[in-house]
Amino acid sequence: MSTSPLPTRSRASCSRRGFLKTAAAAVCGMPALIPATARGRFAPSNRIHVGLIGCGHQSQRIVPSFLVHDDMQMIAVCDVNRQSDGYYHPGQVLGRETAKRWVEEHYAEKTGSGRFSGCRAYHDYRELLAREDIDAVALIVPDHWHALMAIEAAEAGKDIYCEKPLALTVTEGRKMVRAVREHGRIFQTGAQFRSSPAVRHACELVRNGRLGTIRRVLTWVAGNHFDCPGPDWEPMPVPAGFDYDFWLGSAPEAPYHHDRCLFRFRYILDYSNGQTANFGAHVNDIAQWGLGTDLTSPIDYQDEGSEFLPEGSLFSAAVRTAFRARYADGVELICRTRENAATRFEGTEGQLEVSLGGRLRSYPENLKDSVIGPDEIHLPVANPAHTVHRRSDVDADHVRNFLDAVKSRQDPLEPAEVGHSTGNLCILGNIAQLLKRTIRWDPENEQILEDDQAQQMLSRPMRAPWQI
Ligand SMILES: NC(=O)c1ccc[n+]([C@@H]2O[C@H](COP(=O)([O-])OP(=O)(O)OC[C@H]3O[C@@H](n4cnc5c(N)ncnc54)[C@H](O)[C@@H]3O)[C@@H](O)[C@H]2O)c1
Repeated sequence: MSTSPLPTRSRASCSRRGFLKTAAAAVCGMPALIPATARGRFAPSNRIHVGLIGCGHQSQRIVPSFLVHDDMQMIAVCDVNRQSDGYYHPGQVLGRETAKRWVEEHYAEKTGSGRFSGCRAYHDYRELLAREDIDAVALIVPDHWHALMAIEAAEAGKDIYCEKPLALTVTEGRKMVRAVREHGRIFQTGAQFRSSPAVRHACELVRNGRLGTIRRVLTWVAGNHFDCPGPDWEPMPVPAGFDYDFWLGSAPEAPYHHDRCLFRFRYILDYSNGQTANFGAHVNDIAQWGLGTDLTSPIDYQDEGSEFLPEGSLFSAAVRTAFRARYADGVELICRTRENAATRFEGTEGQLEVSLGGRLRSYPENLKDSVIGPDEIHLPVANPAHTVHRRSDVDADHVRNFLDAVKSRQDPLEPAEVGHSTGNLCILGNIAQLLKRTIRWDPENEQILEDDQAQQMLSRPMRAPWQI
């Protein structure tokens, strides 16, 4: 854990709870904020109090996906960026103040009072975690922060919705799994396509043998959405209101550049494993679900011509993903860059492709329309109450599945172990791409065999004072 000084828990939570109680109850007519955990049981009337950490690009999807559910209330948001542009779209202003405004506008409209001030914005996530009236957190931060925050959140007794890919390294992922179980927390990996009816149907067709014996799975990840600044890029001044050192956290010290941080971090190996893991966390996760390999990963990984930019480029992750992996039973998984991210299962009796947009294509063509009988294998449904589905329901249903798990204390669709296996698949593919050689993996013991250099890449040093 970080060794940085923290405000004491009681001091931090007392004053804020008092403020929030008054604000929520008196100003808006909302019920007083007693944490659901303190109330002992999740009665239907009890709201789950959620804190959001990371108010950038993806929070635009996650915040509405939480707010649509009446049995939760978002009472805190946090970001090291107060409010600035520089995200995906030019002129788009995000950060903690923007997210706070979204939340307050939502509740103001909902209560009909036109006013709401019961959502507090934090700069330091440790202050948010110290609040005793928060039951669960949503971690929507860059990948190099997932492990640190998830482990601290678990220790603080919070349930966790954590964005994919699960972790930056295999070691971090393993420690996340351990912390979640040790502290008895509910954890949902934010690989939301497991909540898509189209993806579920595709995986059920595979599991029920409609394609015969599966020989191969092809997965496609998207390429980078932004051009890399040239190799002669110059450091830039840090924008006002952006705590760059806190953003870097455990990552190595590095000069600021606009293209290093907001959204673009996913192209840089210090913070991510590139599109191999960013999109791989979806398309390879679907492969794992269809194959029924949730708690394991392939046993060898071979680079097949992945491409990187010249040394010294700001974007250091693969710009073209190309690796081949093999499961213990001989099934192959081939992961490549292509414009439309998708997963294709190839069996002895047919092929089936499902895109992240939910489009199914099959050979024979009618294979995709096959109905799963009552006695066949059915995969869990994220939100059984939903009978009609739009694309946008997928995110909200994945959150619904998490909230239901928080109440029932049963694992949701994608607990930490499952996110970890898919994460490992992507990380190991990336290591093979970086080393340009085949690596062999022992999934049981989570070790790379007979390759010390590759084995060392299963973890990374953390910049002080950050540690897990
Ligand atoms: N499930 C999906 O389909 C999906 C889609 C996009 C992104 N994601 C995931 O969401 C996560 C965030 O991605 P993004 O696109 O929103 O990135 P982003 O850069 O747009 O937003 C991340 C935010 O986190 C903030 N942040 C960084 N360090 C912080 C810290 N120490 N404390 C508080 N806030 C901090 C940043 O300032 C930024 O505002 C990533 O893990 C990404 O893989 C998932």
